[in-house]
Amino acid sequence: MAKKEIDVLDFPDDFLWGVATAAYQIEGAFDTDGKGASIWDTYTNEKSFKNGNANEAIDFYNNFEEDIKRIKELNLDSFRFSLSWSRIFPKGTGEINMAGVAFYHKVIDTCLDQGITPWVTLYHWDLPQELEDKGGWTNRSILDWFSFYVDFCTKEYGSKVSNWMVMNEPMSFIGLGYFTGQHAPGKKGLKKFLPAAHHATLCQAIGGRIVRENVEGAYIGTTFSCSHVTPKNYFWSNIKAAKRVDALLNRFFIEPLLGMGYPYKEFLGLKKIKKYFKSGDEKLMQFDFDFIGLQYYFRIVAKYNLLPPILFAKEVSALERNVKTNSMGMEIYHKGLYKMIKKFSKYEGINAIYITEAGVCLDDELIDGKVKDPKRIKYMKKTFSKILKAIRKGKNVKGVFLWTLVDNFEWAEGYKPRFGLIYNDFKTQKRTLKKSAFWLQSFLKRKEKIYPDS
Ligand code: GAL
Repeated sequence: MAKKEIDVLDFPDDFLWGVATAAYQIEGAFDTDGKGASIWDTYTNEKSFKNGNANEAIDFYNNFEEDIKRIKELNLDSFRFSLSWSRIFPKGTGEINMAGVAFYHKVIDTCLDQGITPWVTLYHWDLPQELEDKGGWTNRSILDWFSFYVDFCTKEYGSKVSNWMVMNEPMSFIGLGYFTGQHAPGKKGLKKFLPAAHHATLCQAIGGRIVRENVEGAYIGTTFSCSHVTPKNYFWSNIKAAKRVDALLNRFFIEPLLGMGYPYKEFLGLKKIKKYFKSGDEKLMQFDFDFIGLQYYFRIVAKYNLLPPILFAKEVSALERNVKTNSMGMEIYHKGLYKMIKKFSKYEGINAIYITEAGVCLDDELIDGKVKDPKRIKYMKKTFSKILKAIRKGKNVKGVFLWTLVDNFEWAEGYKPRFGLIYNDFKTQKRTLKKSAFWLQSFLKRKEKIYPDS
């Protein structure tokens, strides 16, 4: 029997369909109207950085109205975007930049006018440079700086926005930014990583509490990167290595939040983080979020290795394994999404799950005014069917945000990886809907036809 095509009507009526973005990757206008520098502005404008910068990005700053209309045109109902801290507070704290504040009011108002629900991420990696100069995430004062910023934003926008996400993927910005140095601010080593990680753990809960306090009826979450991790083979050393990688990538930031503490059992060396604890921290890092966001892109196969210390594990790359990958060489492994939903659903204290990012980068090309990306269509179908499977098995998955609306600046990789449903010509900023965007548009359209009032 032929396999049934995925159908939007198989999903619960209130299942949410959105797209996700991040300020630094789309806005551009990096020093316009009083915006201060963020660590990503500094990092990508250094001579040693070879993959361009997002000084202009996709110029969402000047194109937001058209782009939000495009979200509507695709029949999506929700837009996840982040606020740039240094656009609002150029120096991180202190003086407010009213033009920056006004910009996000306009973005939110445009969403509301279009009938698109705004989902705001408070922190998606672009720390104000002035704060990094004082140690950034490694400095415990970040607890105050972050509280000040979150307090302001939630009071300012709280009457219009109900859906808030405190952070985007702490393991990515702390791991890559303060351990391996592959992301801004380019810091390296355990002595940077451990305090930065602990402060981010505290801030995610502190942020949650501030939103709860300031926004009546708020729906509050925070997001985590996750990767399905398997051992290279069933040698004991590799199985243990995979467990450590899993603990680091999937458990490190969620377990303290749920009152379980850091996953010390998997690697004893992690106890060194206690050096950065103050009395009361165990309690301070807990918060009862309404939902969590899972962001899934790839699977990791791990094996034992002497380096790095504490982790003693290494990835067996997708290339070595000769498996299907996206254009960044990451394995496309759909089953992993289902497994991640299952894994996180097991935690007591997780009330609801949204897939706050899922997407694929491909070598899309504009030919005769068209972009054919059948692989992205297949990717979406498979992603949706894994989510549906999870829902049918009783998991509380309530929505998906595709990464992303328009091709944009992919951090350390620059403009090469194209993740968008919409193609962007970075010279002219002309947008072209890819074939996948048309597919999504008609996939979602069916819902409207059947439920005209929804
Ligand atoms: C995520 C990140 C996004 C985007 C995406 C695609 O980890 O949150 O900002 O870059 O990866 O690789």
